[in-house]
Amino acid sequence: MCGIVGYVGDKQAAPILLDGLSKLEYRGYDSAGLAVRNGSEKFEVVKAKGRLKVLANKTDDGIALHGTCGIGHTRWATHGEPSETNAHPHTSAAGETDEDADVVGVHNGIIENFQEVKEKLTRRGYTFYSQTDTEVLIKLVDYYYKKYNMGPIDALAKTIVRVRGSYALAVMFKDYPGEVYVARKDSPMIIGVNENESYIASDVPAILKHTRNVYYIGNREMAKLSGGEVTFFNLDGDAIEKELVEIKWDAEAAEKGGYEHFMMKEIHEQPKAVKDTLNSYIKGEGEQKVIDLADVGLGEEEIKEIEQIYVVACGSAWHVGMASQYVIEDLADIPVRVELASEFRYRKLPVNGKGLVIIVSQSGETADSLEALRLAKQKGLKTLAIVNVVGSSIAREADHVMYTFAGPEIAVATTKAYSTQLICGYLLAVQFAKVRGLIDDEKYDYYLEELLALPEKIEKILSDKERIQWFASKFSNAHDIFFIGRGLDYAISLEGSLKMKEISYIHSEAYAAGELKHGTISLIENGTLLIGVLTQKQLYEKTVSNMTECKSRGAYLMGLTTYGHYEIEDHADFVVYIPKADEHFAGSLAVIPLQLLGYYTSVAKGLDVDKPRNLAKSVTVE
Ligand code: F6R
Repeated sequence: MCGIVGYVGDKQAAPILLDGLSKLEYRGYDSAGLAVRNGSEKFEVVKAKGRLKVLANKTDDGIALHGTCGIGHTRWATHGEPSETNAHPHTSAAGETDEDADVVGVHNGIIENFQEVKEKLTRRGYTFYSQTDTEVLIKLVDYYYKKYNMGPIDALAKTIVRVRGSYALAVMFKDYPGEVYVARKDSPMIIGVNENESYIASDVPAILKHTRNVYYIGNREMAKLSGGEVTFFNLDGDAIEKELVEIKWDAEAAEKGGYEHFMMKEIHEQPKAVKDTLNSYIKGEGEQKVIDLADVGLGEEEIKEIEQIYVVACGSAWHVGMASQYVIEDLADIPVRVELASEFRYRKLPVNGKGLVIIVSQSGETADSLEALRLAKQKGLKTLAIVNVVGSSIAREADHVMYTFAGPEIAVATTKAYSTQLICGYLLAVQFAKVRGLIDDEKYDYYLEELLALPEKIEKILSDKERIQWFASKFSNAHDIFFIGRGLDYAISLEGSLKMKEISYIHSEAYAAGELKHGTISLIENGTLLIGVLTQKQLYEKTVSNMTECKSRGAYLMGLTTYGHYEIEDHADFVVYIPKADEHFAGSLAVIPLQLLGYYTSVAKGLDVDKPRNLAKSVTVE
């Protein structure tokens, strides 16, 4: 939530900052702002309510602002409504754009005790123009800076000790031209450098076109940036060394590449993302192929010892947990509990010391998932993170990391990251089964072949997307849509339903097919669209029966099943077929038409597919 950028170098900062923010707009898009400084002249602060383009228009694409040092922000409102006043940057001055301010800053995160700090500062004579916690944070920096006559790093260190919550904070001080200071805890921030320039960003795509060399700043650490130079400090104010890391992502991956929306581009990138993820863990040729978890660091002895698995995640990543549960339990015979991170972190769990906690997260920064990870570690459980963003907080703190190779995912609604997370779930299930002696070599080879065949099958589904486009336009005025399935098909229904509601704003629900008649069936009326997912042979007829029960009550039925099940046409009004695959992995295929359905419905309704209302990509608040 919220994106921040910063620049110090020899070029004009504002156009660079605006361009960086455009790559972060998925993190929040209700207002935006810039603060730029030309040498030791006054700060120029410009803010605008609404999408980034309003700010771009207001500043003539940044040309109207002069200076080679600056910071910028795109906001997803937490404290205070979306408005120009509440937009960042915030200043230490009494008026929001008072250019005589001593401290100006942008912040991503939440200051939990901001009310208490605000009262303290009010008693010391500070006044506040906005409702934000960030203004309080900036004024607290200003307070320490002046009260103790401290340098910027000491003032930041004092502030960090005083506040509770999360922050990626970038600040400029009037007395320190050509420098930006940052501090971080639990909110993402990377620092990029090249010869004469330094960059700050909440996420890699914002700086990828300028540099691939980045530093990751740790929790409760600070840094001072000048053109091409970065010095890091710990809480005691001592300089610390950091390793420069090279980002491997392709710069074009963060652009739309001819597609109308990032979401469609990312849907189409799935065959490659799935293939890249498979190829990163399946090594060897022909029958010598094996799943190699050496990079994950999970040894055979450790795998044999696991008695219980908890998969903990939020949203779509939680749906990956639901699907993985069926596959791991079936293949590896290990009990799996799937937990919502926001619930897990506040529950008193009876802990099994031989448990493995798998945290699934695209961003690696989701606040609830990160806290769940920390709790699991505190309880002495082993942790494995399935993460897309290299160097993210979850990746850094987990005992083991299994990266997905989806590349940058920009659309708020996840598609390719979800698909690659599923692949990791399958790989773990197959490998656990093998190591624990539950499948023989022949079965193992069969599963690997089936996995490796998935990218081509996904490609095939994508080549027939027009039928789904037609169907989506027919139902774009629907009020309610139900997705049903049993077992793995229920897990896929959950994801299909979320894709639909989050981008089309149509109310939709996913149900385990057998549950409908315990209440929800009363919502079915003439014309209600009900989508049955039917990839599991053993459960096929049961779900068909549940679909027909709804048809008798007026539902319009769509069936989603594998080629060969043509008798479904006797029941369903519209059918989508997917290629055959081993049933454990069929979800990877069934989800594709459901992603397309959500996408085309949103397009048919003329909505903002990539940036649905009220949402942000990386949820770094509770
Ligand atoms: C939905 C979606 C979200 C995320 C969830 C977790 O399309 O993308 O439900 O899956 O916010 O995010 P990560 O995976 O970054 O932890």
